[in-house]
Amino acid sequence: MKAITVEPKTPGSARLENIAEPDARDGSVLVEAIAVGVCGTDVEIVEGKYGWAPPGQSRLVLGHESLGRVIDPGASRSLKKGDLVVGIVRRPDPVPCPNCAVGEWDMCRNGQYTERGIKEIHGFMSERWRTEPEYAVKVDSSLGILGVLLEPMTVIAKALEQVVAVGQRSYWEANKVLVTGAGPIGLLAACAVSMRAKDVHVLDRVETGVKPELVRALGATYHSGRVMDLGFEPDVIVECTGVGSVLEDALHKIGAGGVICLTGVGGGGAAPGHAVADIAAKLVLNNNVLVGSVNANKRHWYKAAQALVQADRKWLSRLITRREAPENFPQALERRPDDIKVIIQFSEI
Ligand code: BGC
Repeated sequence: MKAITVEPKTPGSARLENIAEPDARDGSVLVEAIAVGVCGTDVEIVEGKYGWAPPGQSRLVLGHESLGRVIDPGASRSLKKGDLVVGIVRRPDPVPCPNCAVGEWDMCRNGQYTERGIKEIHGFMSERWRTEPEYAVKVDSSLGILGVLLEPMTVIAKALEQVVAVGQRSYWEANKVLVTGAGPIGLLAACAVSMRAKDVHVLDRVETGVKPELVRALGATYHSGRVMDLGFEPDVIVECTGVGSVLEDALHKIGAGGVICLTGVGGGGAAPGHAVADIAAKLVLNNNVLVGSVNANKRHWYKAAQALVQADRKWLSRLITRREAPENFPQALERRPDDIKVIIQFSEI
C-alpha cells in the first residue's frame, strides 16, 4: 500500500512509497484512510527538526490528523464497518508515570509517551491503518470530511480546559478573550471560545482575505498588527503562533488575574527586550498565569467531537483550503498565503 514516510532528523527524506499492510499488532480495527491533515509539526518532521522512527526502524509513516472508514471493526464492540473514525495520537508511557496510569497521557511526566506519526509509532498517512479499539474515536457521520479537523480541535479542548482550571482558582469573570494567530489552531480556538464567551478577539499578521472573514463570521473581532497596540487588556490569551515577539507582547498586555495559554511551538527568534525577572515581577504583581498545553486525552477527544458537531458546518468547511493527492505531498507541505488547513486525501468520502 502507498504511504508517506520520512527518516526523522534527515531533512528532505520524505517520500511516497509502497510499504507492507498494517501489522495486526497495531490493533484489531482496520481502517481505510480518507484524509490526513497537515500541520506545522509535520512540516518540522519533514524539515528534519523533530520526530522519531519506531525502535529498530529508520523510517516513520507521517501523519497524525486522521480520518478514515472502518473496514473491519475487529474487537471493537461499538464500531461497525463503514463508520467514520479518527485515531488518537498519543499512547501512555510503559512505566507508567502517575498521569499516564490514570489516562492523562497528555500530561505524561517522564517523556516516554509515544505519538502516532510523530514519536516512535507509525502515523496515518497510509492507504490503510490499524488501531486498538480504545484509541479509535467514532465521528458523527454527518460531519463527513470535516472529521479531519477533530485532532486539532482536541488540542483546543485541552487548552481551554487548562484555562478554565487556572481561572477558577479565584472568583473569575473572563469577558475578553484574545486568540493570537489565525491558522487552523487559532481559528478552531476562536470557534470553540465563541460558543462560550461574548467578547472574542483574534489577532494575526494578515490584513485581508479569508482569515479576517472567518473571524467576523464567528461574531468575533479581527485585529492585525501588534498585541501591544490593542485598546484593551484581555482576561485570557490563547497563544497559537509560537512567535517570541507575540508572546512578549502578550505577557505585557494580559490583564490583572489573566491567563495566557501557550499552544504554539516555535523556537529561536530575537532575545526578549525585557529581563525574565521583570516579566516575572509583572506576573507576580498581577496574579497572572502562563500555562503551556500540549496534546489531549480521551476526555478532550470527547469534548472536541461535541464542539465540532455544534459548530457551523459551512464555517468549518472553509477551514479546509486545499486538498492534495498523496502523490502531491510535497505541495501539501508547502505553506501558501491563503492556506488554512491543507489535507491529503487518500480516498473519496
Ligand atoms: C500534535 C499533538 C502532539 C504535539 C507534540 C502536535 O502537532 O497535534 O498531538 O502532542 O504535536 O508532538
